[in-house]
Amino acid sequence: MYDLVVIGAGPGGYIAAIRAGQLGMKVACVERYPTFGGTCLNVGCIPSKALLESSERFEEARHHLGDHGVDVEGVKLDLEKMLHRKEEIVGGLVQGIAFLFEKNGVEGIHGWATIKDRNTVEVNGDDGETKTLETKRILIATGSKPIPLPGVELDKERIVDSTGALEFDEVPEHLVVIGAGVIGLELGSVWRRLGAKVTVIEYLPKILGGRADKDVERLAKRTFSKQGIEFELDAKVTGASVDDGEVTVTFEQKGEEKSLTCDRLLVGIGRRPFTENLGLENIGLETNDRGFIEVDEHYKTSVDGVYAVGDVIPGPMLAHLAEHEGVVCVERMNDIAGHVNYEAVPDVVYTHPEIASVGKTEEELKEAGVEYRAGKFSFKANGRARALNDTEGFVKILADKETDQILGAHIIGPRAGDLIAELAVAVEFHGSAEDIARSSHAHPTLAEVVKEAALAVDGRPLNG
Ligand code: FAD
Ligand code: NAI
Repeated sequence: MYDLVVIGAGPGGYIAAIRAGQLGMKVACVERYPTFGGTCLNVGCIPSKALLESSERFEEARHHLGDHGVDVEGVKLDLEKMLHRKEEIVGGLVQGIAFLFEKNGVEGIHGWATIKDRNTVEVNGDDGETKTLETKRILIATGSKPIPLPGVELDKERIVDSTGALEFDEVPEHLVVIGAGVIGLELGSVWRRLGAKVTVIEYLPKILGGRADKDVERLAKRTFSKQGIEFELDAKVTGASVDDGEVTVTFEQKGEEKSLTCDRLLVGIGRRPFTENLGLENIGLETNDRGFIEVDEHYKTSVDGVYAVGDVIPGPMLAHLAEHEGVVCVERMNDIAGHVNYEAVPDVVYTHPEIASVGKTEEELKEAGVEYRAGKFSFKANGRARALNDTEGFVKILADKETDQILGAHIIGPRAGDLIAELAVAVEFHGSAEDIARSSHAHPTLAEVVKEAALAVDGRPLNG
Protein backbone atom coordinates (compact mmCIF):
# COMPACT_ATOMS: atom_id res chain seq x y z
CA MET A 1 0.00 0.00 0.00
CA TYR A 2 1.41 3.37 -1.05
CA ASP A 3 0.93 6.48 1.05
CA LEU A 4 0.63 8.47 -2.17
CA VAL A 5 0.36 7.82 -5.90
CA VAL A 6 1.04 10.89 -8.03
CA ILE A 7 -0.37 10.88 -11.56
CA GLY A 8 1.78 12.95 -13.93
CA ALA A 9 5.49 13.73 -13.71
CA GLY A 10 5.46 17.41 -14.73
CA PRO A 11 6.71 20.12 -12.33
CA GLY A 12 3.58 19.72 -10.19
CA GLY A 13 3.77 15.94 -9.92
CA TYR A 14 7.47 15.19 -9.86
CA ILE A 15 8.28 17.85 -7.28
CA ALA A 16 5.38 16.70 -5.09
CA ALA A 17 6.66 13.11 -5.33
CA ILE A 18 10.19 14.17 -4.34
CA ARG A 19 8.89 16.15 -1.36
CA ALA A 20 6.75 13.14 -0.34
CA GLY A 21 9.85 10.95 -0.55
CA GLN A 22 11.79 13.42 1.60
CA LEU A 23 9.04 13.26 4.20
CA GLY A 24 9.28 9.48 4.35
CA MET A 25 6.10 8.65 2.46
CA LYS A 26 5.93 5.52 0.32
CA VAL A 27 5.30 7.22 -3.00
CA ALA A 28 4.98 6.34 -6.70
CA CYS A 29 4.81 8.79 -9.61
CA VAL A 30 3.18 7.57 -12.83
CA GLU A 31 3.98 9.16 -16.20
CA ARG A 32 2.52 8.09 -19.52
CA TYR A 33 5.44 9.39 -21.62
CA PRO A 34 8.84 7.63 -21.68
CA THR A 35 10.55 10.57 -19.94
CA PHE A 36 9.68 12.41 -16.74
CA GLY A 37 9.41 16.22 -16.59
CA GLY A 38 6.02 16.83 -18.22
CA THR A 39 5.27 19.68 -20.58
CA CYS A 40 7.78 22.00 -18.95
CA LEU A 41 10.93 19.98 -19.41
CA ASN A 42 10.06 18.05 -22.57
CA VAL A 43 8.17 20.50 -24.78
CA GLY A 44 7.70 23.72 -22.80
CA CYS A 45 9.81 25.96 -20.60
CA ILE A 46 13.18 24.33 -21.15
CA PRO A 47 13.33 23.72 -24.93
CA SER A 48 11.73 27.12 -25.60
CA LYS A 49 14.26 28.87 -23.39
CA ALA A 50 17.13 26.95 -25.02
CA LEU A 51 16.00 28.23 -28.44
CA LEU A 52 15.37 31.73 -27.12
CA GLU A 53 18.94 31.89 -25.78
CA SER A 54 20.49 30.46 -28.96
CA SER A 55 18.49 32.67 -31.30
CA GLU A 56 19.33 35.73 -29.21
CA ARG A 57 23.04 34.91 -29.52
CA PHE A 58 22.58 34.63 -33.30
CA GLU A 59 20.80 37.97 -33.51
CA GLU A 60 23.39 39.63 -31.30
CA ALA A 61 26.28 38.30 -33.37
CA ARG A 62 24.60 39.46 -36.57
CA HIS A 63 23.34 42.86 -35.50
CA HIS A 64 24.63 44.08 -32.17
CA LEU A 65 28.18 42.90 -31.44
CA GLY A 66 29.47 45.57 -33.84
CA ASP A 67 28.22 48.23 -31.38
CA HIS A 68 30.71 46.83 -28.85
CA GLY A 69 33.54 47.13 -31.38
CA VAL A 70 33.50 43.39 -31.90
CA ASP A 71 33.42 42.81 -35.62
CA VAL A 72 32.27 39.41 -36.69
CA GLU A 73 31.85 38.40 -40.27
CA GLY A 74 30.13 35.54 -41.98
CA VAL A 75 27.79 34.68 -39.09
CA LYS A 76 25.94 31.56 -40.14
CA LEU A 77 23.09 29.58 -38.69
CA ASP A 78 23.52 25.86 -38.05
CA LEU A 79 19.90 25.08 -37.22
CA GLU A 80 20.50 21.37 -36.86
CA LYS A 81 23.13 22.01 -34.20
CA MET A 82 20.92 24.54 -32.43
CA LEU A 83 18.07 22.02 -32.27
CA HIS A 84 20.46 19.29 -31.17
CA ARG A 85 21.75 21.48 -28.33
CA LYS A 86 18.15 22.05 -27.20
CA GLU A 87 17.52 18.27 -27.22
CA GLU A 88 20.67 17.66 -25.19
CA ILE A 89 19.60 20.16 -22.55
CA VAL A 90 16.17 18.53 -22.33
CA GLY A 91 17.71 15.03 -22.27
CA GLY A 92 20.06 15.92 -19.40
CA LEU A 93 17.32 17.45 -17.31
CA VAL A 94 14.77 14.67 -17.75
CA GLN A 95 17.41 12.08 -16.88
CA GLY A 96 18.11 14.15 -13.79
CA ILE A 97 14.55 13.57 -12.58
CA ALA A 98 14.94 9.79 -12.78
CA PHE A 99 18.07 10.24 -10.62
CA LEU A 100 16.22 12.51 -8.16
CA PHE A 101 13.44 9.93 -7.86
CA GLU A 102 15.97 7.29 -6.96
CA LYS A 103 17.73 9.54 -4.48
CA ASN A 104 14.47 10.42 -2.71
CA GLY A 105 12.92 6.96 -2.71
CA VAL A 106 10.24 7.75 -5.31
CA GLU A 107 9.12 4.86 -7.49
CA GLY A 108 8.86 6.24 -11.03
CA ILE A 109 6.46 4.20 -13.16
CA HIS A 110 5.82 4.63 -16.90
CA GLY A 111 2.34 4.00 -18.27
CA TRP A 112 -1.16 5.41 -18.51
CA ALA A 113 -2.76 5.81 -15.08
CA THR A 114 -6.49 5.32 -14.57
CA ILE A 115 -8.17 5.88 -11.24
CA LYS A 116 -10.30 2.82 -10.48
CA ASP A 117 -11.49 3.89 -7.06
CA ARG A 118 -10.32 6.23 -4.29
CA ASN A 119 -7.57 3.80 -3.29
CA THR A 120 -6.67 2.13 -6.58
CA VAL A 121 -4.74 3.34 -9.62
CA GLU A 122 -4.29 1.06 -12.60
CA VAL A 123 -1.28 1.62 -14.84
CA ASN A 124 -1.20 0.35 -18.42
CA GLY A 125 2.37 0.22 -19.66
CA ASP A 126 3.47 0.50 -23.29
CA ASP A 127 4.60 -3.12 -22.99
CA GLY A 128 0.94 -4.16 -22.55
CA GLU A 129 1.43 -4.94 -18.86
CA THR A 130 -1.04 -3.71 -16.28
CA LYS A 131 -0.06 -2.80 -12.72
CA THR A 132 -2.47 -2.16 -9.91
CA LEU A 133 -1.34 0.31 -7.26
CA GLU A 134 -3.14 0.35 -3.91
CA THR A 135 -2.77 3.72 -2.20
CA LYS A 136 -4.00 5.81 0.73
CA ARG A 137 -4.03 9.02 -1.35
CA ILE A 138 -3.99 10.08 -5.01
CA LEU A 139 -2.54 13.34 -6.34
CA ILE A 140 -3.69 14.35 -9.84
CA ALA A 141 -1.06 16.42 -11.67
CA THR A 142 -2.00 15.63 -15.26
CA GLY A 143 -1.35 19.14 -16.59
CA SER A 144 -2.71 20.70 -19.74
CA LYS A 145 -2.88 20.51 -23.55
CA PRO A 146 -3.16 23.24 -26.21
CA ILE A 147 -6.66 24.54 -26.93
CA PRO A 148 -7.68 23.58 -30.48
CA LEU A 149 -9.08 26.25 -32.79
CA PRO A 150 -12.19 25.24 -34.75
CA GLY A 151 -11.52 25.43 -38.50
CA VAL A 152 -7.76 25.19 -38.04
CA GLU A 153 -6.70 21.57 -38.00
CA LEU A 154 -3.12 20.78 -36.97
CA ASP A 155 -1.31 18.62 -39.54
CA LYS A 156 1.82 18.76 -37.34
CA GLU A 157 3.92 19.82 -40.31
CA ARG A 158 2.61 23.07 -41.76
CA ILE A 159 0.06 23.82 -39.05
CA VAL A 160 1.47 23.17 -35.60
CA ASP A 161 1.14 23.89 -31.90
CA SER A 162 4.04 24.96 -29.66
CA THR A 163 5.56 21.45 -29.73
CA GLY A 164 5.82 21.55 -33.54
CA ALA A 165 7.24 25.08 -33.48
CA LEU A 166 10.11 23.87 -31.28
CA GLU A 167 11.35 21.57 -34.02
CA PHE A 168 10.92 23.13 -37.47
CA ASP A 169 13.72 21.59 -39.51
CA GLU A 170 14.19 24.79 -41.51
CA VAL A 171 13.59 28.45 -40.82
CA PRO A 172 10.13 29.33 -42.13
CA GLU A 173 9.99 32.01 -44.79
CA HIS A 174 6.80 33.33 -43.31
CA LEU A 175 5.52 32.14 -39.95
CA VAL A 176 2.01 33.18 -39.01
CA VAL A 177 1.14 32.84 -35.34
CA ILE A 178 -2.42 32.79 -34.04
CA GLY A 179 -2.42 34.31 -30.54
CA ALA A 180 -0.21 37.13 -29.21
CA GLY A 181 0.15 35.47 -25.81
CA VAL A 182 3.27 34.04 -24.21
CA ILE A 183 3.77 31.18 -26.67
CA GLY A 184 3.14 33.36 -29.72
CA LEU A 185 5.57 36.06 -28.59
CA GLU A 186 8.32 33.73 -27.35
CA LEU A 187 8.31 31.32 -30.30
CA GLY A 188 7.54 34.13 -32.77
CA SER A 189 10.69 35.87 -31.46
CA VAL A 190 12.79 32.73 -31.89
CA TRP A 191 11.95 32.28 -35.58
CA ARG A 192 12.06 36.00 -36.38
CA ARG A 193 15.60 36.17 -34.99
CA LEU A 194 16.55 33.17 -37.09
CA GLY A 195 15.31 34.92 -40.24
CA ALA A 196 11.57 34.27 -40.66
CA LYS A 197 9.03 36.95 -41.44
CA VAL A 198 6.58 36.71 -38.55
CA THR A 199 2.96 37.88 -38.44
CA VAL A 200 0.86 37.48 -35.30
CA ILE A 201 -2.93 37.44 -35.52
CA GLU A 202 -4.63 38.24 -32.21
CA TYR A 203 -8.29 38.25 -31.27
CA LEU A 204 -7.94 41.08 -28.71
CA PRO A 205 -6.92 44.69 -29.48
CA LYS A 206 -3.84 44.14 -27.25
CA ILE A 207 -0.93 41.72 -27.07
CA LEU A 208 0.15 39.66 -24.00
CA GLY A 209 -3.32 38.19 -23.52
CA GLY A 210 -4.71 41.57 -22.45
CA ARG A 211 -3.44 40.89 -18.92
CA ALA A 212 -0.27 43.00 -18.82
CA ASP A 213 0.25 46.43 -17.30
CA LYS A 214 -0.83 49.00 -19.89
CA ASP A 215 2.55 50.81 -20.15
CA VAL A 216 4.36 47.47 -20.44
CA GLU A 217 1.99 46.28 -23.16
CA ARG A 218 2.42 49.50 -25.13
CA LEU A 219 6.24 49.40 -25.02
CA ALA A 220 6.31 45.66 -25.74
CA LYS A 221 4.17 46.06 -28.82
CA ARG A 222 6.24 49.00 -30.07
CA THR A 223 9.52 47.15 -29.49
CA PHE A 224 8.42 43.85 -31.05
CA SER A 225 7.04 45.77 -34.05
CA LYS A 226 10.38 47.60 -34.41
CA GLN A 227 12.10 44.21 -34.31
CA GLY A 228 9.99 43.22 -37.32
CA ILE A 229 7.05 41.24 -35.91
CA GLU A 230 3.84 42.32 -37.63
CA PHE A 231 0.64 42.35 -35.61
CA GLU A 232 -2.93 41.93 -36.85
CA LEU A 233 -4.93 42.79 -33.75
CA ASP A 234 -8.68 42.69 -33.19
CA ALA A 235 -8.77 39.87 -35.70
CA LYS A 236 -10.86 36.71 -35.62
CA VAL A 237 -9.38 33.73 -37.43
CA THR A 238 -12.06 31.90 -39.41
CA GLY A 239 -10.07 29.04 -40.92
CA ALA A 240 -6.83 27.71 -42.37
CA SER A 241 -6.07 25.30 -45.19
CA VAL A 242 -2.93 23.76 -46.67
CA ASP A 243 -2.36 23.40 -50.37
CA ASP A 244 0.92 22.13 -51.77
CA GLY A 245 2.89 23.26 -48.73
CA GLU A 246 1.29 26.69 -48.63
CA VAL A 247 -0.99 27.62 -45.76
CA THR A 248 -3.81 30.13 -46.21
CA VAL A 249 -5.23 31.68 -43.04
CA THR A 250 -8.46 33.61 -43.22
CA PHE A 251 -9.60 36.14 -40.63
CA GLU A 252 -12.10 38.92 -40.04
CA GLN A 253 -10.84 42.30 -38.97
CA LYS A 254 -13.06 45.36 -38.48
CA GLY A 255 -15.80 43.76 -40.57
CA GLU A 256 -13.42 42.94 -43.42
CA GLU A 257 -12.55 39.43 -44.63
CA LYS A 258 -8.78 39.07 -44.94
CA SER A 259 -6.30 36.31 -45.64
CA LEU A 260 -2.57 35.63 -45.34
CA THR A 261 -0.42 32.94 -46.89
CA CYS A 262 2.57 31.43 -45.16
CA ASP A 263 4.66 28.27 -45.07
CA ARG A 264 4.09 27.56 -41.34
CA LEU A 265 1.24 28.35 -39.01
CA LEU A 266 1.54 28.19 -35.21
CA VAL A 267 -1.61 28.04 -33.10
CA GLY A 268 -1.01 29.40 -29.57
CA ILE A 269 -4.39 30.43 -28.21
CA GLY A 270 -4.08 29.04 -24.70
CA ARG A 271 -4.08 25.69 -22.94
CA ARG A 272 -6.79 23.65 -21.27
CA PRO A 273 -6.65 21.14 -18.42
CA PHE A 274 -6.02 17.50 -19.37
CA THR A 275 -8.05 14.78 -17.65
CA GLU A 276 -8.90 12.46 -20.54
CA ASN A 277 -9.27 8.75 -19.71
CA LEU A 278 -8.17 9.40 -16.16
CA GLY A 279 -11.16 7.66 -14.61
CA LEU A 280 -12.56 10.67 -12.75
CA GLU A 281 -16.04 9.22 -13.28
CA ASN A 282 -15.03 6.14 -11.23
CA ILE A 283 -14.71 8.31 -8.12
CA GLY A 284 -17.52 10.74 -8.97
CA LEU A 285 -15.10 13.67 -9.36
CA GLU A 286 -16.49 16.28 -11.74
CA THR A 287 -14.54 19.02 -13.50
CA ASN A 288 -15.89 22.59 -13.67
CA ASP A 289 -17.38 24.07 -16.86
CA ARG A 290 -13.88 24.87 -18.17
CA GLY A 291 -12.57 21.36 -17.47
CA PHE A 292 -10.53 22.22 -14.34
CA ILE A 293 -10.54 20.18 -11.14
CA GLU A 294 -11.61 22.45 -8.27
CA VAL A 295 -9.64 22.21 -5.01
CA ASP A 296 -9.53 23.91 -1.59
CA GLU A 297 -6.52 25.79 -0.24
CA HIS A 298 -4.89 22.49 0.73
CA TYR A 299 -5.41 21.11 -2.81
CA LYS A 300 -8.06 18.62 -1.67
CA THR A 301 -10.70 17.82 -4.28
CA SER A 302 -14.30 17.08 -3.35
CA VAL A 303 -13.34 13.38 -3.05
CA ASP A 304 -11.70 12.37 0.23
CA GLY A 305 -8.04 11.38 -0.23
CA VAL A 306 -7.83 12.76 -3.78
CA TYR A 307 -5.80 15.93 -4.40
CA ALA A 308 -4.87 18.00 -7.48
CA VAL A 309 -2.20 20.61 -8.36
CA GLY A 310 -0.71 22.41 -11.37
CA ASP A 311 -2.23 23.26 -14.73
CA VAL A 312 -5.17 20.92 -14.10
CA ILE A 313 -6.56 23.21 -11.36
CA PRO A 314 -7.82 26.79 -11.87
CA GLY A 315 -5.22 29.59 -11.81
CA PRO A 316 -2.19 30.62 -13.86
CA MET A 317 -0.50 27.80 -15.79
CA LEU A 318 3.11 28.19 -14.67
CA ALA A 319 5.77 25.64 -13.85
CA HIS A 320 7.01 27.30 -10.65
CA LEU A 321 3.43 27.62 -9.41
CA ALA A 322 2.73 23.93 -10.12
CA GLU A 323 5.88 23.05 -8.12
CA HIS A 324 4.91 25.30 -5.24
CA GLU A 325 1.40 23.83 -5.12
CA GLY A 326 2.84 20.29 -5.20
CA VAL A 327 5.10 20.99 -2.22
CA VAL A 328 2.37 22.67 -0.17
CA CYS A 329 -0.12 19.91 -0.99
CA VAL A 330 2.23 17.15 0.24
CA GLU A 331 3.34 19.16 3.28
CA ARG A 332 -0.29 19.69 4.30
CA MET A 333 -0.84 15.90 4.03
CA ASN A 334 1.91 15.65 6.65
CA ASP A 335 0.45 18.41 8.85
CA ILE A 336 3.25 20.82 7.98
CA ALA A 337 2.10 24.43 7.66
CA GLY A 338 2.24 25.76 4.12
CA HIS A 339 0.37 27.93 1.70
CA VAL A 340 0.68 29.52 -1.73
CA ASN A 341 0.27 33.27 -1.87
CA TYR A 342 -1.10 33.72 -5.38
CA GLU A 343 -0.45 37.49 -5.17
CA ALA A 344 3.29 36.79 -4.94
CA VAL A 345 3.70 34.47 -7.95
CA PRO A 346 5.88 36.06 -10.64
CA ASP A 347 5.04 35.77 -14.31
CA VAL A 348 7.78 36.10 -16.94
CA VAL A 349 7.77 36.32 -20.73
CA TYR A 350 11.24 35.47 -22.04
CA THR A 351 11.26 37.72 -25.08
CA HIS A 352 13.77 40.48 -25.63
CA PRO A 353 13.20 42.69 -23.74
CA GLU A 354 11.95 40.34 -21.06
CA ILE A 355 8.66 41.10 -19.38
CA ALA A 356 7.99 40.22 -15.75
CA SER A 357 5.32 41.01 -13.23
CA VAL A 358 4.06 40.17 -9.78
CA GLY A 359 0.85 41.20 -8.01
CA LYS A 360 -1.67 43.70 -9.28
CA THR A 361 -1.61 45.95 -12.35
CA GLU A 362 -2.60 49.63 -12.13
CA GLU A 363 -5.79 48.79 -13.99
CA GLU A 364 -6.72 46.14 -11.42
CA LEU A 365 -6.02 48.51 -8.51
CA LYS A 366 -8.14 51.24 -10.09
CA GLU A 367 -10.96 48.81 -10.70
CA ALA A 368 -10.82 47.66 -7.07
CA GLY A 369 -10.80 51.30 -5.89
CA VAL A 370 -7.44 50.88 -4.11
CA GLU A 371 -5.45 54.10 -3.68
CA TYR A 372 -1.83 53.64 -4.66
CA ARG A 373 1.38 55.44 -5.56
CA ALA A 374 3.42 54.41 -8.60
CA GLY A 375 7.19 54.69 -8.98
CA LYS A 376 8.74 54.18 -12.41
CA PHE A 377 12.39 54.19 -13.45
CA SER A 378 13.96 53.64 -16.85
CA PHE A 379 16.88 51.35 -17.67
CA LYS A 380 18.24 54.22 -19.81
CA ALA A 381 19.68 55.93 -16.73
CA ASN A 382 21.38 52.76 -15.46
CA GLY A 383 25.13 52.31 -15.95
CA ARG A 384 25.03 48.54 -16.23
CA ALA A 385 22.23 48.61 -18.82
CA ARG A 386 24.33 51.05 -20.84
CA ALA A 387 27.39 48.82 -20.58
CA LEU A 388 25.20 45.94 -21.78
CA ASN A 389 23.91 48.12 -24.62
CA ASP A 390 20.44 47.11 -23.45
CA THR A 391 18.56 50.15 -22.15
CA GLU A 392 15.00 49.70 -23.42
CA GLY A 393 12.40 49.40 -20.67
CA PHE A 394 11.57 50.29 -17.09
CA VAL A 395 10.64 49.05 -13.63
CA LYS A 396 7.31 50.15 -12.21
CA ILE A 397 6.36 49.58 -8.57
CA LEU A 398 2.84 50.09 -7.21
CA ALA A 399 2.47 50.63 -3.47
CA ASP A 400 -0.50 51.24 -1.20
CA LYS A 401 -0.91 55.01 -0.79
CA GLU A 402 -1.33 54.82 2.96
CA THR A 403 0.79 51.85 4.10
CA ASP A 404 3.38 51.84 1.27
CA GLN A 405 2.97 48.02 1.00
CA ILE A 406 3.99 46.80 -2.46
CA LEU A 407 0.87 45.63 -4.31
CA GLY A 408 2.34 45.03 -7.74
CA ALA A 409 5.51 45.37 -9.80
CA HIS A 410 6.03 45.34 -13.54
CA ILE A 411 9.31 45.17 -15.42
CA ILE A 412 10.11 45.28 -19.08
CA GLY A 413 13.80 45.28 -19.86
CA PRO A 414 17.03 43.30 -19.63
CA ARG A 415 16.88 40.31 -17.23
CA ALA A 416 13.41 41.33 -16.03
CA GLY A 417 12.77 37.66 -15.18
CA ASP A 418 15.64 37.65 -12.70
CA LEU A 419 14.97 41.14 -11.34
CA ILE A 420 11.35 40.34 -10.45
CA ALA A 421 12.53 37.82 -7.81
CA GLU A 422 13.39 40.59 -5.34
CA LEU A 423 9.95 42.13 -5.76
CA ALA A 424 8.17 38.76 -5.46
CA VAL A 425 9.97 38.22 -2.13
CA ALA A 426 9.00 41.73 -1.04
CA VAL A 427 5.33 41.01 -1.86
CA GLU A 428 5.51 37.66 -0.02
CA PHE A 429 6.94 39.43 3.07
CA HIS A 430 4.36 42.24 2.82
CA GLY A 431 7.29 44.58 2.26
CA SER A 432 7.02 48.25 1.45
CA ALA A 433 8.57 50.33 -1.34
CA GLU A 434 10.59 52.02 1.40
CA ASP A 435 12.05 48.62 2.41
CA ILE A 436 13.40 48.17 -1.12
CA ALA A 437 14.53 51.80 -1.35
CA ARG A 438 16.55 51.46 1.87
CA SER A 439 18.16 48.12 1.00
CA SER A 440 21.65 48.13 -0.47
CA HIS A 441 21.81 47.24 -4.17
CA ALA A 442 25.22 46.55 -5.69
CA HIS A 443 26.63 49.04 -8.18
CA PRO A 444 26.63 48.86 -11.14
CA THR A 445 23.79 46.34 -11.51
CA LEU A 446 20.43 46.25 -13.22
CA ALA A 447 18.90 45.78 -9.75
CA GLU A 448 19.61 49.47 -9.07
CA VAL A 449 16.69 50.24 -11.39
CA VAL A 450 14.43 48.36 -8.96
CA LYS A 451 15.76 50.46 -6.08
CA GLU A 452 15.29 53.70 -8.05
CA ALA A 453 11.71 52.72 -8.92
CA ALA A 454 11.08 52.12 -5.20
CA LEU A 455 12.53 55.57 -4.42
CA ALA A 456 10.35 57.01 -7.19
CA VAL A 457 7.24 55.74 -5.37
CA ASP A 458 8.05 58.46 -2.82
CA GLY A 459 9.08 60.93 -5.51
CA ARG A 460 12.80 60.81 -4.67
CA PRO A 461 14.73 58.88 -7.33
CA LEU A 462 18.41 59.78 -7.17
CA ASN A 463 19.66 59.21 -10.69
CA GLY A 464 16.81 60.33 -12.91
P1 FAD B 1 2.54 19.05 -17.05
O1 FAD B 1 3.89 19.61 -17.08
O2 FAD B 1 1.69 19.19 -18.26
O3 FAD B 1 2.69 17.52 -16.67
C1 FAD B 1 1.61 16.66 -16.64
C2 FAD B 1 2.10 15.25 -16.93
O4 FAD B 1 1.07 14.32 -16.66
C3 FAD B 1 2.50 15.05 -18.39
O5 FAD B 1 3.82 14.60 -18.48
C4 FAD B 1 1.50 14.01 -18.89
O6 FAD B 1 2.05 13.12 -19.84
C5 FAD B 1 1.13 13.28 -17.61
N1 FAD B 1 -0.17 12.61 -17.66
C6 FAD B 1 -1.36 13.14 -18.01
N2 FAD B 1 -2.34 12.22 -17.88
C7 FAD B 1 -1.74 11.08 -17.45
C8 FAD B 1 -2.22 9.78 -17.13
N3 FAD B 1 -3.53 9.48 -17.19
N4 FAD B 1 -1.33 8.85 -16.74
C9 FAD B 1 0.00 9.14 -16.65
N5 FAD B 1 0.49 10.36 -16.92
C10 FAD B 1 -0.36 11.32 -17.30
N6 FAD B 1 5.84 27.86 -17.51
C11 FAD B 1 6.72 28.62 -16.85
O7 FAD B 1 6.56 28.83 -15.64
N7 FAD B 1 7.80 29.16 -17.47
C12 FAD B 1 8.03 28.98 -18.79
O8 FAD B 1 9.03 29.47 -19.33
C13 FAD B 1 7.10 28.19 -19.52
N8 FAD B 1 7.29 27.98 -20.83
C14 FAD B 1 6.40 27.21 -21.52
C15 FAD B 1 6.61 27.04 -22.88
C16 FAD B 1 5.73 26.27 -23.62
C17 FAD B 1 5.97 26.10 -25.10
C18 FAD B 1 4.63 25.64 -22.97
C19 FAD B 1 3.68 24.78 -23.75
C20 FAD B 1 4.42 25.81 -21.61
C21 FAD B 1 5.30 26.60 -20.87
N9 FAD B 1 5.12 26.84 -19.51
C22 FAD B 1 6.00 27.63 -18.84
C23 FAD B 1 4.00 26.24 -18.77
C24 FAD B 1 4.46 25.00 -18.00
O9 FAD B 1 5.02 24.09 -18.91
C25 FAD B 1 3.29 24.38 -17.26
O10 FAD B 1 2.67 25.34 -16.44
C26 FAD B 1 3.77 23.22 -16.38
O11 FAD B 1 4.39 22.23 -17.15
C27 FAD B 1 2.59 22.62 -15.62
O12 FAD B 1 3.02 21.54 -14.85
P2 FAD B 1 2.05 20.34 -14.46
O13 FAD B 1 2.88 19.42 -13.65
O14 FAD B 1 0.79 20.85 -13.92
O15 FAD B 1 1.66 19.66 -15.86
P1 NAI C 1 -2.02 32.76 -23.63
O1 NAI C 1 -3.25 32.70 -22.82
O2 NAI C 1 -0.80 33.38 -23.04
O3 NAI C 1 -2.31 33.58 -24.98
C1 NAI C 1 -3.26 33.19 -25.89
C2 NAI C 1 -3.59 34.37 -26.78
O4 NAI C 1 -4.39 33.91 -27.85
C3 NAI C 1 -4.37 35.45 -26.04
O5 NAI C 1 -3.81 36.70 -26.32
C4 NAI C 1 -5.76 35.30 -26.62
O6 NAI C 1 -6.48 36.53 -26.66
C5 NAI C 1 -5.45 34.82 -28.02
N1 NAI C 1 -6.54 34.09 -28.67
C6 NAI C 1 -7.42 33.23 -28.10
N2 NAI C 1 -8.26 32.76 -29.04
C7 NAI C 1 -7.91 33.33 -30.20
C8 NAI C 1 -8.38 33.22 -31.54
N3 NAI C 1 -9.40 32.43 -31.84
N4 NAI C 1 -7.77 33.94 -32.51
C9 NAI C 1 -6.72 34.76 -32.20
N5 NAI C 1 -6.23 34.89 -30.96
C10 NAI C 1 -6.81 34.17 -29.98
O7 NAI C 1 -1.76 31.26 -24.13
P2 NAI C 1 -0.51 30.60 -24.85
O8 NAI C 1 0.40 31.62 -25.40
O9 NAI C 1 -1.08 29.57 -25.75
O10 NAI C 1 0.20 29.88 -23.65
C11 NAI C 1 -0.50 28.87 -22.90
C12 NAI C 1 -0.05 28.87 -21.48
O11 NAI C 1 1.24 28.33 -21.36
C13 NAI C 1 -0.03 30.25 -20.87
O12 NAI C 1 -1.20 30.44 -20.15
C14 NAI C 1 1.15 30.25 -19.97
O13 NAI C 1 0.71 30.12 -18.67
C15 NAI C 1 1.96 29.02 -20.37
N6 NAI C 1 3.23 29.47 -20.90
C16 NAI C 1 4.06 30.16 -20.06
C17 NAI C 1 5.25 30.66 -20.52
C18 NAI C 1 6.08 31.45 -19.59
O14 NAI C 1 5.82 31.44 -18.40
N7 NAI C 1 7.10 32.15 -20.06
C19 NAI C 1 5.71 30.44 -21.88
C20 NAI C 1 4.75 29.72 -22.70
C21 NAI C 1 3.57 29.25 -22.19
